[in-house]
Amino acid sequence: MERIIRQTTDGSHTLFDPATGENFHSVNGAITESMHVFIQAGLLPLVVNKTKISLMEIGFGTGLNALLTFFHKPKETEIQYHAVEAFPLGLRLVHTLNYGQLIDKPHANEVFNWLHEVSWGQSHSFEGHFELLKQQIDLLQFKARPESYDLIYFDAFSPVVQAELWSIDIFKMLYLSLKAGGVLTTYSAKGSVKQALRQAGFKLVRLNGPPGKRHMLRASKTEFSVRDFDNSLPQL
Ligand SMILES: C[S@@+](CC[C@H](N)C(=O)[O-])C[C@H]1O[C@@H](n2cnc3c(N)ncnc32)[C@H](O)[C@@H]1O
Repeated sequence: MERIIRQTTDGSHTLFDPATGENFHSVNGAITESMHVFIQAGLLPLVVNKTKISLMEIGFGTGLNALLTFFHKPKETEIQYHAVEAFPLGLRLVHTLNYGQLIDKPHANEVFNWLHEVSWGQSHSFEGHFELLKQQIDLLQFKARPESYDLIYFDAFSPVVQAELWSIDIFKMLYLSLKAGGVLTTYSAKGSVKQALRQAGFKLVRLNGPPGKRHMLRASKTEFSVRDFDNSLPQL
């Protein structure tokens, strides 16, 4: 079923998915939400003093998280970005999204197009500092290599419509795929999600959510230092 473009309150686009009845991002700002949940709570605290980060995204979708990661990582940090996606978007639809125009960085459009136009199932490098592997696979079939990732962006549709993806088994597989000290961030702070993450072995910190959401979660393989994150951090 065709996804439909919508504008969110910060001016950035999102897509409505008729099959699930969900938007890809918050209607209170797609870029705002991605920055808050994945870049500020996930990437930025983790890249401190690291020259290389291995990252996995569950649900590549519009490529917005990859684009923001590209432009918000420190120059000297190399990123290996592995994205899992069951239903890649068509290029015609992708080319109507406005992220490349809204992100105030040189060549943002060019990078956005590169993220989408490179082939699936193979690794590609952008000038040696951003390596991208997009894998078309259902998360339910996906088996990640153990101890491989520093960071996971968990950005599936909500547990209300895709409960099977927010399960203990999936989170155990992701937990095993993280290196010690690795982190998973996600926009959902639902009770069942917290419970499943804990049962998979994660330590949880509940953070303030982006506009329109009270909370989000950061789950870590070991206790995670929050020294660099400027947010109120009530412990669960
Ligand atoms: C909430 S959207 C977020 C997408 C993306 N992170 C973005 O910013 O555009 C969820 C994404 O998960 C994908 N997805 C849905 N079911 C999936 C599955 N079983 N396995 C992998 N990806 C799935 C959807 O196609 C969609 O791209």
